[in-house]
This record gives sequence, structure tokens and C-alpha cells, in this order.
Amino acid sequence: MSRVVVKPCSEFSLTIDSIAPDKSISHRSAMFSMLACGTSEISNFLRAEDTLNSLEIVKNLGAKVEDDGITIKISSDGIKESSEILDCGNSGTGMRLFCGLLSSANGHFILTGDEYLRRRPMKRVTAPLRDIGAKLDGREDGDFAPLSIRGASLKAFDYESKIASAQVKSAMILAALRADGVCTYTEPELSRDHTERMLKGMGAEISVDGLKTTITPMKELLSPLTIRVPADPSSAFFFAVATAITPDASIVLEGVTLNPTRIEAFKALERMGADISYEITDNRYEPIGNISVKYAPLKSIVVEDNISWLIDELPALSIAMACANGESLIKNAEELRVKESDRISTVVEGLRACSIEVHEYKDGYKVVGGELKSAIVDSDGDHRIAMSFIIAGLRCGMEVSDLDCINTSFLNFFELLQKITKVEIS
Ligand code: S3P
Repeated sequence: MSRVVVKPCSEFSLTIDSIAPDKSISHRSAMFSMLACGTSEISNFLRAEDTLNSLEIVKNLGAKVEDDGITIKISSDGIKESSEILDCGNSGTGMRLFCGLLSSANGHFILTGDEYLRRRPMKRVTAPLRDIGAKLDGREDGDFAPLSIRGASLKAFDYESKIASAQVKSAMILAALRADGVCTYTEPELSRDHTERMLKGMGAEISVDGLKTTITPMKELLSPLTIRVPADPSSAFFFAVATAITPDASIVLEGVTLNPTRIEAFKALERMGADISYEITDNRYEPIGNISVKYAPLKSIVVEDNISWLIDELPALSIAMACANGESLIKNAEELRVKESDRISTVVEGLRACSIEVHEYKDGYKVVGGELKSAIVDSDGDHRIAMSFIIAGLRCGMEVSDLDCINTSFLNFFELLQKITKVEIS
């Protein structure tokens, strides 16, 4: 699957109940099962490359994994040293959270990833973990994978993070669960909170007060997880944007996590004028439900707060900005530069190829709304860039190349897209 040609679409009205399961929650379900006494049962696990890599690592660490194709049952009697190199593939979440989990485990572990992941910064987790006694190393003094970890005893900490990152927070919470005293972690803005919710649900002593999380080390193993992974709002958002840029279109996206730290991009699209409503239908670890989106003419917005709540959706939101009336601005989003690609560059280049005026800044960009024109865009191996520009193609036609990356997060993306328009994949 190396390139796709997407045709413009006309109005549609759809209900989708098969958006890809949430990636963040799937990774965590597999990893956290290793902290439980008994068997965790996970259904609707995301069977995409990133999360299957985490599941494989969990197996390599000695967990028993039974999979009947519907429910994955995981039981573990402690993390075991592995003779395998643990391959996180393309996943920063996988690598950073495993750093936290393994820093206190008995044994020696090697974590690696694909060419993109080996270029992403790891010091954000290796440095604070080393400060509490973890023995981690890697290229450039622990900044780049492959990483080696030798489990060690960890000291209690009060850590104030400079970045709002759920990956760093989660790595430190996992370390804190095995530290020698009560720990606190403070972040500059609240980042996604699946780790806190899920571990609390498993019986861990974690309390959150504003931006400060207090973690009491585990005295015994936690209760197993029983979870049906909700649909991923980051994946659902591509179809929300598809709807918001197609006159008279409407869509209902079912079974999505409505965790407030994950639906900020939908709120931004609402601020742009799209007609969006939310219906909570379930609550298991976090609120889950349906998101309805209806087309309305879009206006420009400034996005500068709670950036970590919509960081993954900014490329797709930028497509809506390109179709809006006026100049939209994204600020405080320097983190975009260290995602699966430098997403400031890839979005700016892609939009320019589509004849949209864009101004690039260190921490974001300005998009001047106009008329998207058909172009040829390369994803740079980044799934969210590939899917964002494919969605742009619904407006004007598009050719997008380097598509295998979509398998890291959204296996049925094209199947769902074909409900809206004609796509030719080669
Ligand atoms: C994730 C956190 C975010 C996000 C990533 C998934 C997670 O990264 O971009 O796709 O599951 O914790 P940061 O925490 O580094 O911002």
C-alpha cells in the first residue's frame, strides 16, 4: 500500500460504530495487566502495529496471553527478564511507558523501535528516572533508543515536569508504584489521564489535585482490569473533520471515549462553527459515548491552551482551518516537532502543496483559510499526516503516498472512508 488517490465527496449521512479502538488505552491495558494479581480481560483491544508490539513485549516479559480473537486475557506472575530485544515499533507511548515499568523490574532489558522512533527524544523519561536511581542508558547519554535498562531500587520523588506529557507522567507514575515512599508528580498543564484512571480502578493509591498527582507505592499487586476499550477520539476526529468540511454532511461516531482530556479537538471544531453534540452512554474508568457532527460553514480560531489535549488532532484540525473563513493560529505547540514526524513542517509543507497560505513559527503555524487544491502529498511515514491529507482530498481530490504507517493506529480507515468516497489504492 504505497499510494492512494482520493476523489472529492458529496454530502453523506453516516453512523459509524467501528472506529479503531483507543491506542493509549490499549497500550496501557496490556502493560498494566502485568501489575495485577489474577487475569485481566481486555476486549476491543486495538489490533494495530503499535499496540500489538506492546502486547508482544508483555508476552516477552513473561505474561501469559490468551487471545480468542475477541477478548485478550493477560496474567502475569511478575516481570521476567527477556532474551529478546523489546521492539516498540513506531510507538513513543510504548517506549516511554515501558521505561517507567521496567526501571524497577528485576533484570536487564533492551528497548528499540523503528527508524522514526529511534530519532525521537527519550531523555524526557530517562533523565527523571535516572534521578530517582533507575539505570537507563542509550545513545547520546540516554536520549535515543536503543535503550538499555537494568532494574534498580527507586527513590521516592517530588518531580515538577516542564512539559505537559502523559507519556512522561505515566512513566513516572509506573516508577512511583515501586518507589520507596510516597511520590508527587506535577505538570504544567493537565495531560491525558488514562493512566491515573485505570490504575485507580485497579486499586492503586493515586490522588489528583489539580496539576499534582500523588502516588503511594503498591503494597501488593493490583486487581485485574476488566475493560472494553472505547473507540479512539483521535481516529474518530478524521471523520469529524471530513463531515465539517463537506456541505450538508452529518455523522454519528459511536462508542468513543469522552474523557475531557481527549475531546478538546472536537471542542475546537465546535468553536469553528461545526454543530457537535455528545451523548454519554457508559462509564467504565472514563465516560464513553457518541459524538454527532453536522456540517456548518467554518470560521477561523486561535488554538493556544490545553495543547496536550488535542496535540494528536492538530494535523486534521489544520485541514478544517484551511477550509475556514479567516486566519487560524496554532501556538504553544512545539511538541508537534517531536511526534512521529516534525508535524509543524509536514503540515506546513502539505498545506502549501495544496495551495494554502501558511506561516510557520517555532511553536506552531498560521493557516489562511482558502480553497484547497488537489496535490501530491507524502506522509513522511506519519499516520496522522497521511490520514489528514486523505481527508483533505474529500474536498478537492488528493494523492497521498507512504501509507503503511496508517497500520500503526487505524486498520479499517480505508474501509470507513469508502463509505464516503471513491478511493484507489495501489
Ligand atoms: C500519548 C500521549 C501523547 C500523545 C501520544 C499518546 C499517551 O504524547 O501525543 O500519541 O498515550 O500517553 P505526549 O504525552 O508525549 O504528549
